[in-house]
Amino acid sequence: MRREGLDDPPGGGSGDVGSVIRADGLEVGYRDHVVWKDASFTVERGEFIALIGPNGAGKTTLFRLLLGLQRPRAGTLTVFGVRPERGNPRIGYVPQRHTIDNETNVESETLVRLGGSGARWGPGFSWRAEREAAAVALRAVGATELAHRPLGALSGGELQRIFLAEALIGNPEMLLLDEPLSNLDLRRSRELVELVHGLVQSRHVTTLLVAHDINPLIECLDKVIYVANGHVATGRPDEVLTSEGLSALYGVSVEVLHDSRNNIVIVGGENPHEGRGP
Ligand SMILES: Nc1ncnc2c1ncn2[C@@H]1O[C@H](COP(=O)(O)OP(=O)(O)OP(=O)(O)O)[C@@H](O)[C@H]1O
Ligand SMILES: [Mg+2]
Repeated sequence: MRREGLDDPPGGGSGDVGSVIRADGLEVGYRDHVVWKDASFTVERGEFIALIGPNGAGKTTLFRLLLGLQRPRAGTLTVFGVRPERGNPRIGYVPQRHTIDNETNVESETLVRLGGSGARWGPGFSWRAEREAAAVALRAVGATELAHRPLGALSGGELQRIFLAEALIGNPEMLLLDEPLSNLDLRRSRELVELVHGLVQSRHVTTLLVAHDINPLIECLDKVIYVANGHVATGRPDEVLTSEGLSALYGVSVEVLHDSRNNIVIVGGENPHEGRGP
């Protein structure tokens, strides 16, 4: 079985045309609780998108829909032109993780290999090929030297690179990254954003990244999906992140300001974000 290298653009010959994601009048909820509704947007191939909004707004829930882990209550959603089904090898997913136990002595390379095992490769995929694929993925995130380090002994930034390698091992066409910048300082956040942006540019991997601070990302983004107050707004950052736009979304007065270093600061709203953006 031939696998494309990580430097080849994915999706060759897949025959897909049109938007990678198409949401139309989408509504999602749990039991009697509507998380958000009336969401209509598209995502095109190779776009780099930040998904932002306060805690509990429904960002992870949107990923669950895209992964086919949950069905919308209303509206339609297609991913690569079809209704999402779980286990799609075209999607690489980095779940929202809180911490890793310091005692975890699983090696980085083992975690990355597990990301690529099972149905993803099909019968006949050898252990040697799996190790080679892990080495390619680790190299793509600059983590070759971490391959045999236990996960519990890695820093937050190193761990996030390993999680990214785990998501990359199947050579996906879309990446869903849920809060990969949490617990990273500004420098490490910027490094991870540059790494992801490099993958988006070189491989045209459509990427959605959940973040609480838009500032480390703003220069690289094509679009923002802002989830708040039961609604979803989408557009270019300069279209969505305006006082008028966010006030309309929240239904109360919100101000988008710039501090002395030109960072975006969002003030007000139902759930103010400590003055540091959403
Ligand atoms: N399995 C579940 N059953 C019931 N309610 C749920 C479930 N999962 C999430 N919710 C609720 O749905 C809402 C959205 O949750 P979600 O995890 O999508 O938010 P989020 O925007 O990712 O938040 P955070 O920034 O804290 O990660 C929350 O009110 C949450 O309590
Ligand atoms: Mg979440």
